[in-house]
Amino acid sequence: MKNVEIYEKLAPKYDVATKVVSFGIEEFWRKKFVKTIKKYIKNGTLLDVASATGDMAKNLDFEKMYLLDPSKEMNKIAKEKLKDKNVIFIEDFAESAKIPQKVDLITAFMAVRNFDDMQKGMKNLDKYLKVGGYFAIVELTKSDSLLFKLSMFYMSKIVPIIGGFITGEYETYKKFDKMIKNIRDEDILQNLDNYEIVEHIRLFPPMASLIIARKNG
Ligand SMILES: C[S@@+](CC[C@H](N)C(=O)[O-])C[C@H]1O[C@@H](n2cnc3c(N)ncnc32)[C@H](O)[C@@H]1O
Repeated sequence: MKNVEIYEKLAPKYDVATKVVSFGIEEFWRKKFVKTIKKYIKNGTLLDVASATGDMAKNLDFEKMYLLDPSKEMNKIAKEKLKDKNVIFIEDFAESAKIPQKVDLITAFMAVRNFDDMQKGMKNLDKYLKVGGYFAIVELTKSDSLLFKLSMFYMSKIVPIIGGFITGEYETYKKFDKMIKNIRDEDILQNLDNYEIVEHIRLFPPMASLIIARKNG
């Protein structure tokens, strides 16, 4: 099953299920992400990748925003949420999408692990980022800490029960376990070799990293 098919099923209850299963941690990470990004860039043209229900665009509120996600159901919800904003939806995959212009900022919040081919996806996106622009990423990544191992146990055993209860999609949540492919920070960083890493923070709890990179000329 392609990842996008999983998200198509979860879309109607995605926002509430995510809040509950993450105990609000995802929101806490999102706020930290937005605050860190705003240290470097406050406005311009944004490309939000794997935009899901549009929360990143809602939080950043740039003057022009492209939202890229292959899921029709997710896009439907995001369109409703952002109907007053200057938003252009692109229903496509990171690996193949064509963006009509170069942007100042690319955001990928819990996004790159969902690409079928992370390297190809990030390479394609890079084509649409201006020199001096920022590629900002938050992703679940592996570490050797005990807290990470406990968190993974929670993700694989408890999340399907809670998420399944809220959405009625127990089997779908069980597949998340396999989707979290145990990416390491290095797997992401190796696709940013033409960038200067301006932020690299291990978030708390230590299941995810925040990376902000500036594109070199
Ligand atoms: C965990 S959600 C992303 C959360 C979102 N960025 C936010 O701020 O709430 C993952 C999203 O990745 C999308 N997706 C799956 N495969 C993708 C791909 N190859 N390229 C871009 N997005 C993809 C899914 O449709 C889903 O909406």
